[in-house]
Formats: sequence, structure tokens, C-alpha cells
Amino acid sequence: MLDRKVEDLKILFTQEQIEQKTKELAEKINKDCGTNNELVLICVLKGSTMFCCDLAKHLKMPVEMEFIRVSSYGNAKTSSGNVQAIDLTLPNLEDKNVLIVEDIIDTGCTMEFLINILCRTHRPKNLKVVTFLNKKMARKVNIEPDYYGFDIDDKFVVGYGLDYEGYMRNLPYIGYFE
Ligand code: IMP
Ligand code: MG
Repeated sequence: MLDRKVEDLKILFTQEQIEQKTKELAEKINKDCGTNNELVLICVLKGSTMFCCDLAKHLKMPVEMEFIRVSSYGNAKTSSGNVQAIDLTLPNLEDKNVLIVEDIIDTGCTMEFLINILCRTHRPKNLKVVTFLNKKMARKVNIEPDYYGFDIDDKFVVGYGLDYEGYMRNLPYIGYFE
């Protein structure tokens, strides 16, 4: 049984705020990348699915979508800093414009790990990072995204892809437990 209830969540960002922000981010990316240049989105499973799909709908260039899976949290609410690669299968990304799409950057350990692997083994022409949420205050390594939706306090948040013990990813809003 889950020890937390959806009814006890305090809303941090509504569905409308999320939609608006996703659109704004896509517009920035359209502008920066140009609508003629192909872009490979790398969706980091499982948390980024909702954000990645919503973002992709507003992108105007030819977009390829790839999915990788890493895990750093297990079921705990604090980052272990210990990143586990579960599935890093990717096509050849050499000379491609690549955008890693994350739900949240917390300590930054996951993103550091991904950037290192991608640069080392795939040599993309260009590698950028977008994250919907940015917990700047919680950073343990020196990693900053090229784009982010909202900067948030060091709170544990759920919804819009983010989970609490595997649940609550389906919520259309983002909330936290007090
Ligand atoms: P990092 O390696 O500490 O930056 O953590 C990155 C991953 O931890 C994210 O991709 C999320 O999957 C997960 N995570 C970090 N903070 C939260 C949170 O507040 N709620 C749910 N998942 C989180
Ligand atoms: Mg994630």
C-alpha cells in the first residue's frame, strides 16, 4: 500500500501552466535549432515520457525520437547519485543534432552520466539538454541544462511523469507532499 495519497498533494504547477511552459520551450528550441535541421530527441525513461511527447508535438523540424532508460532513485525519495544504465540502445548519432529530454535535474548525476556516455560513444554534432524541472539548489555536480521549464525548491515532486514509488506519473499536474 502507498503511504501517500493523491488527495494530500499540494499543486505546484497546473495542467495549464505545464502546457504553456512546454509550448514556450518548444518555441525557443524551434528558434535556436532552426526548422530545417533534423533533431534527435532522447527521452529518458520513464520520467520524461509525458514532457517529451508534449514537447515533440510543438517542434517544427523533422524530429526523431529515441528512448533510453536509466535509474538513479530506486524507490527512495533522495537521489542515490548512483546511476544505473538499464537500456542505452541508440542508433548512430554521429553528426546529428541531439537533445536530451529530462523530466527533472536534481543532483545532476544522471545528466552528467548521460552527457559523458553520449559524447564519448556517439559523438553527436551538437548535444543539448532540456529539462522540464530544474532543482538548481540540489546540484552535486556542475551540470546546467540549455533549457528548463521551471526552477523549483529542493522538494520531492510528483505527476506529469514524475513518480512516487512507481505511482502518480499519470497526474496531469505537478504536486508535492507537505
Ligand atoms: P539526479 O541524478 O539526482 O539529477 O536525478 C535525476 C532523476 O531522479 C530524475 O530524472 C528523476 O527521475 C528523479 N527525481 C529527481 N527528483 C525527483 C522528484 O522530486 N520527484 C520524482 N523523481 C525525481
Ligand atoms: Mg528522469
